Amino acid sequence: MIETITALEALRERLRSWRRAGLTVGFVPTMGNLHAGHYSLVALARRHADRVVSSVFVNPTQFGPSEDFTRYPRTPDTDTSGLEAAGCDVLWLPTVESMYPFGVELAANVHVPGVSAVLEGECRPGHFDGVCTVVTRLFNQVQPDVAAFGKKDYQQLTVIQQMVADLHFPIRILAGEIVREDDGLAMSSRNQYLGSDVRPRAGTIYQVLQQMRRAHLDGMPRLALEAQAAARLGESGFVVDYAALRRPDLGIAGDGEPGSRVALVAARLGATRLIDNLEF
Ligand code: PAF
Repeated sequence: MIETITALEALRERLRSWRRAGLTVGFVPTMGNLHAGHYSLVALARRHADRVVSSVFVNPTQFGPSEDFTRYPRTPDTDTSGLEAAGCDVLWLPTVESMYPFGVELAANVHVPGVSAVLEGECRPGHFDGVCTVVTRLFNQVQPDVAAFGKKDYQQLTVIQQMVADLHFPIRILAGEIVREDDGLAMSSRNQYLGSDVRPRAGTIYQVLQQMRRAHLDGMPRLALEAQAAARLGESGFVVDYAALRRPDLGIAGDGEPGSRVALVAARLGATRLIDNLEF
């Protein structure tokens, strides 16, 4: 049976009992409205730790003023049963007041320079400060041995890896593969915002990412490849924030420079903003 914990002292007591028994702890932070992508992260954490804690906390500090914090989908009952089925031992449900004891305005802020500033950082200023600020708090609360983050949020994963290395968190970060719908759409809590008028077109993002890979392997210069991808998305009715080809560390590679790449797309379809990526 999964145990739901809402007070930090009770969480710490549970963690102490596990530690006394010599058990390791895996952690999966989430904002709830869970789907197969989240559950695959729980399974990943389970493979690397004796016990798994998952948190559900819709973090106000990572939403911009015009973003969907208040209408972000909240589905506590299905999240709890899904986590239990996925093998999670403890569901940690902090409140905003306990997460930010001095209030959101006076909260100590964690900023990871460089990799936070590009792509999503340009489109959503302050977003990664909110993510790093809350993940730091969650890491201090749970003190896990390993923590799992999905590759769907490729840049978030990169930012967290840098933060963990830079601040010497004794936590191993596990990267979970993207879980896709049949048409290639990456699973996301925001997919349910897609109306039936636009949903059939949402898989185009994955097709475009594959086209970016092919174009790169065929030797197309980066700027031409990015422009071609943005045009194809535009033709399918997307409003494009970026279609970018980057090195794995999100730096820009020169044309012809050897090495791996990641293609990343952020685009709006109707009122829904989707992000996705493909590594090659
Ligand atoms: O990826 C998410 O769901 C969130 O950004 C996270 C890591 C749970 C922090 O609020």
